[in-house]
Amino acid sequence: MSDSSFASRYGPWALIAGASEGIGEHFARQLAARGLHLVLVARRAELLEALAGEIAKEHGVEVRTLALDLSAPDTTRQIQSATADLEVGMLVYNAAVSVLGSFLDHTIEEYRTEQEVNCRRPLELTHHFAGPMGARGRGGVVLMSSLAGSQGSPFISHYGATKAWNLVFAEGLWGELSERGIDVLTCRAGATRTPKYLRDTGEEKRSSFVPEMESADVVTEALAELGKRPSMVPGRANRLAAALLQRLLPRRAAVNVMARASRSAGVGQS
Ligand SMILES: NC(=O)c1ccc[n+]([C@@H]2O[C@H](COP(=O)([O-])OP(=O)(O)OC[C@H]3O[C@@H](n4cnc5c(N)ncnc54)[C@H](OP(=O)(O)O)[C@@H]3O)[C@@H](O)[C@H]2O)c1
Repeated sequence: MSDSSFASRYGPWALIAGASEGIGEHFARQLAARGLHLVLVARRAELLEALAGEIAKEHGVEVRTLALDLSAPDTTRQIQSATADLEVGMLVYNAAVSVLGSFLDHTIEEYRTEQEVNCRRPLELTHHFAGPMGARGRGGVVLMSSLAGSQGSPFISHYGATKAWNLVFAEGLWGELSERGIDVLTCRAGATRTPKYLRDTGEEKRSSFVPEMESADVVTEALAELGKRPSMVPGRANRLAAALLQRLLPRRAAVNVMARASRSAGVGQS
């Protein structure tokens, strides 16, 4: 699709939730390169401002920033009022909380926060923005999932469950909202060298057992699949891993592979 067709189909504005770094930052850069104006949401105002200035200068698009914590239930209302004057044709929900380690080592509050950010906010924002998109007969919604969301994933059990929620939610919406001209896609990423991933895992703890991708490549592959299918896995090695886990291995073996992957990423008990 040419940049101008892309902008007519998914513009004029895109809102990216979780845009200050990593995969979200690259969604911002690549959507701006295709001519979309941006609303960037994340907690760290300075990072957002710096990115917004850079993107606006490089691509000549308008960029607004909203420094908000997506774990706060009121955030949806704040986003709604801050974008009331905009035609948002694309929603990318990228932010996630990942509570790592043994399930019983964390408080129920931590899991509630994980659910707010990973499930409730994308539910509310998709509901809010997809309505007007459907009325216009065009638009796009991208929700980030993970290879951890396709089977039990020890030491990130609840995080994996929230990612399964995004996968099933987005695939269902793909099947119903395409009739209204809205393309829904979920990106089932594997390990990606985002700042968050590097902070969580630590260079010295990781092993070569888990293939890693760069954020920009994940985004390029995801945007190339938008409108073509309900879900995608970026990266050849990840697609092989997904086929192995979901089609070839018995369920208990797949869960054991995920336990090993968590341990080699330094987040599980050894
Ligand atoms: N990295 C991986 O290996 C990997 C693998 C599979 C799937 N994924 C998925 O890819 C997506 C991006 O992952 P990521 O590694 O880049 O890290 P991430 O922490 O999920 O996302 C980073 C972005 O989200 C923002 N964010 C996080 N919590 C927020 C909150 N409470 N309120 C507002 N903004 C928040 C961060 O900015 P602030 O800190 O400034 O708020 C940052 O801009 C996630 O959905 C994740 O599940 C990642």
